[in-house]
Amino acid sequence: MVEFVVNGKTVSSGSDADTPLLWVIRDELKLKGTKFGCGIALCGACTVHIEGTATRSCVIPVSAVAGKSITTIEGLDEEGNHPMQKAWIDAQVPQCGYCQSGQIMQAASLLDKNPTPSDDEIVTAMSGNLCRCMAYTRIKKAVKMASGGDA
Ligand code: FES
Ligand code: FES
Repeated sequence: MVEFVVNGKTVSSGSDADTPLLWVIRDELKLKGTKFGCGIALCGACTVHIEGTATRSCVIPVSAVAGKSITTIEGLDEEGNHPMQKAWIDAQVPQCGYCQSGQIMQAASLLDKNPTPSDDEIVTAMSGNLCRCMAYTRIKKAVKMASGGDA
């Protein structure tokens, strides 16, 4: 049994120690906002926060998060009022939506660590999150808006 905290609640998983955290989040905890894309840490669809840092949950074994605190898109703000979520809506970012929770979690982690990122810092921080709908211009605009900068 591995015990950890997800969105403020203590949970436990009986999955094998090497089960990817993503599957525990989706299949055991039934939090479906976090998506599977590539399974090899190359697309960012599965991004969650572990101890506040954006992390690819598809390549983290559940045993590695024992005692740690995890935030998924469902826990970013219970009402969906996180500044990044509001900027996302204002900038009308999503198209199909599949990549979006990972994008928002990556962007929220960026702003936690760097509240006023430059354009280059935004592009670098978001470069590992792929969007097959090519919403990159709007993603950058939303991050800029959330940071209080000119979009
Ligand atoms: S599913 Fe984890 S990075 Fe693509
Ligand atoms: S909005 Fe469709 S993959 Fe990004």
